[in-house]
Amino acid sequence: MTEILSTDTPENLRHAVERALATLAADDVVALPTETVYGLAANATSEKALKRIFEAKARPVTDPLIIHLPTRESLSDYVDVPEEISETIDLLTRRLWPGPLTLILPKRSAIPDLATAGSPNVAVRMSSNRVFRQVIKTFGKPLAAPSANRFGRVSTTSATAVMEELAGYIPLILDDGGSHFGMESTIVRVTNERKTGKPELRVLRPGALTKEDLRPFGRVYFDHGFQKTKSNEAAESPGTLESHYAPATPLRVLDKPEDFHPSDDKTYALISYRGQETDGFLPLHEWQNVIVLSPGSGKLPEAAVRFYFALRQADTCSVDEIIVEPIPDRGLGKAMNDRLRRAATQPPSEKAKAT
Ligand code: TXA
Ligand code: MG
Repeated sequence: MTEILSTDTPENLRHAVERALATLAADDVVALPTETVYGLAANATSEKALKRIFEAKARPVTDPLIIHLPTRESLSDYVDVPEEISETIDLLTRRLWPGPLTLILPKRSAIPDLATAGSPNVAVRMSSNRVFRQVIKTFGKPLAAPSANRFGRVSTTSATAVMEELAGYIPLILDDGGSHFGMESTIVRVTNERKTGKPELRVLRPGALTKEDLRPFGRVYFDHGFQKTKSNEAAESPGTLESHYAPATPLRVLDKPEDFHPSDDKTYALISYRGQETDGFLPLHEWQNVIVLSPGSGKLPEAAVRFYFALRQADTCSVDEIIVEPIPDRGLGKAMNDRLRRAATQPPSEKAKAT
């Protein structure tokens, strides 16, 4: 049995937080809202609790977890910040924490090896969600919290979506409404440029913080982590695996309307960026369903908030294939396009279709 507790009134909030704390103290897992997506939280310093996360998500133990800290000051209890990047880390955490920035840093022994899949580095962040903060502050210890979905599946941005993913696998979900960003945190590794000694920020997973948000702190690179990788060993940020964030229905992103060649015997749903006829995709076909990412502003933050919801919605349409219109590849669009690349199934070859 999985229970959902609302946090909508002060009394409900108090009750929900108490129940979450009791669950965490018993080394069990609880789904909590964060400002990015919903997370599946457990005591990061307990191996038993960490095992529950891997079990509930059916996540391989080779895929390390993000660790959430209760306070900024506790950072030094769990990681050793190398001297040469300490100024940059200090600036980043002062300005951007709590918030959707995850830093890769050398771990200390208080973090079990199981949390990092044996890596000497740990991914740490601080959530700004008020419910999450209340739980973790009172708990006083770091919480491991990967996204609250079954492994490889679409992330969750509401308590209902968590229920769809994890009902029966976890005891408790705290409901704080829709996630603020709708996109996971940006994972960054900080180094210094060899020649100049100036700070470099390598984005291992694009996310809710954009290049523009990070630029004041150093040179920003999107070079490694988000290329498709076939195995965990090869991936610097192993969640950047080839198939991830994937709906059950085959999904394809098209560059332009002319790339769409529907089969008569197949049904299709369209995920449209703005829902405008003039973009060329809408009038192309009698779509079984059309889901629009940014119907109001036509802007990226709105699309990001609705992104995972749209993938889930499209997945319930019982169509043969989900077609996605291009999303501008800047700002938050980088994170969405990264997820789409991993969610996409290989398109059927032209040859196979012709026969
Ligand atoms: O916004 C977020 O980051 C959400 C919320 C719930 O906090 N969490 C999240 O966790 O997205 P998850 O487990 O779904 O994704 C974590 C990513 C994975 O790609 C994982 O491989 C990478 O972080 N990661 C974790 N520890 C790492 C490490 N030590 N080195 C490199 N990558 C790491
Ligand atoms: Mg995830």
